[in-house]
Amino acid sequence: MAVITGAEIFIDGALQRLDVAFDEKIRAIGRNLEGEERIDCSGKIVLPGVIDVHVHVRDLEQSHKEDWASLGRAALSGGVTTVFAMPNTQPPLDSVERVRDYRRRAQASSLNAYVYGAITRENLQNLEELAPHVDAFKLYLGETTGQLVISDKKLHREIFKIIAQTEKILTVHAQRGGDPTDVTRHEADDILYVLDLAAAYETKLHLAHVTTQRAVEAILEAKKSKIDVSFETCPHYLYFTAKDREERGAWLKMNPPLATEEDREFLWWALGKGLIDIIATDHAPHTIEEKSVGYERAPAGVPGVEFLLPLLFDAVNADKISLARLVEVCCLNPAKRFGLPKGEIAVGLDADLVVVDPDIKKTIAREAVQSKCGWSPYEGLTLRGWPVMVVVRGRLQKKSSVRSSLK
Ligand code: NCD
Ligand code: ZN
Repeated sequence: MAVITGAEIFIDGALQRLDVAFDEKIRAIGRNLEGEERIDCSGKIVLPGVIDVHVHVRDLEQSHKEDWASLGRAALSGGVTTVFAMPNTQPPLDSVERVRDYRRRAQASSLNAYVYGAITRENLQNLEELAPHVDAFKLYLGETTGQLVISDKKLHREIFKIIAQTEKILTVHAQRGGDPTDVTRHEADDILYVLDLAAAYETKLHLAHVTTQRAVEAILEAKKSKIDVSFETCPHYLYFTAKDREERGAWLKMNPPLATEEDREFLWWALGKGLIDIIATDHAPHTIEEKSVGYERAPAGVPGVEFLLPLLFDAVNADKISLARLVEVCCLNPAKRFGLPKGEIAVGLDADLVVVDPDIKKTIAREAVQSKCGWSPYEGLTLRGWPVMVVVRGRLQKKSSVRSSLK
């Protein structure tokens, strides 16, 4: 048994000066706990490991962008201990064999890895068979990397019906593709369409990367009825707007595209009020070369998994949001929604922990980026509060590998 001592531990919504003892699970929380391995974390804050429910790992035929090993390094350096891998890989995760193979590959990462099943025109009849092997399903109604877009409305109804029967969560990329200004304008309509389907078939719905105020308001309204819906937004929608994209072009090209300053401010406001369910990164790595070919030709997507926690912790330090909100949207809510025995520091739950030094101040530098894509949209940003140690199901991940990302 290991014991973390001297730190402030986030328990029951607040920081408390207590020890945590753990093996694979958290075994005890209290004063003066005994254990063979004692880890002195004086001056540090201990949070539940961060859960990122939207990550594109790229392992298989796009491993030049990222693979499980590099994703693991990036995630752990940022305090993320659990990821949900999206199925738009090449080839896609559309069969039992491919999903099994992806789980096996995930062991290269030391992360808790959950895997999404793809929905294609071809595998509709096999979704029931696939269901026990996946942690959730992903449906693409809008433009994405890969060939998984389904735009036939009859098929949509069929899919919502089938997935409802499997009782799995259906995560939907609802926003249709097209011109950036356009997409921002019709996001709410696209989401209303999906909410109606979820209502009709009683599907458990999770909406990916919600960007605009109108869309969030539509979801909040739907929550008042019986629809079983949750949603995520992403750090890039909290930090950037369409104006930034005009300046930086392909480096800020992603789906759905960046919205307005009013939308961005609304997201921060909603986050502060506890109206946002989950913050996920939609970590979508593409290489520097791939992004360097101009806006039109460059693939959509930006990496993000390694800076999720620092970006939000900095906001806590700046009194923009409370630490409790951070833990809600990054740990508690994702665990609750996806049914994981994690997400808080409590006896009996998985020992996934991140130790944060609240005072370290660093500027994000390209050379320090751990993702194989080798760049970050947050380069140049100075943030205060960085992870210095992570524990994944009781296993202490090397401090040095964590430190090496600190500059
Ligand atoms: C994602 C990718 O590159 O896989 N890109 C993106 O802009 N978000 C795909 C997606 O989530 O649509
Ligand atoms: Zn995505």
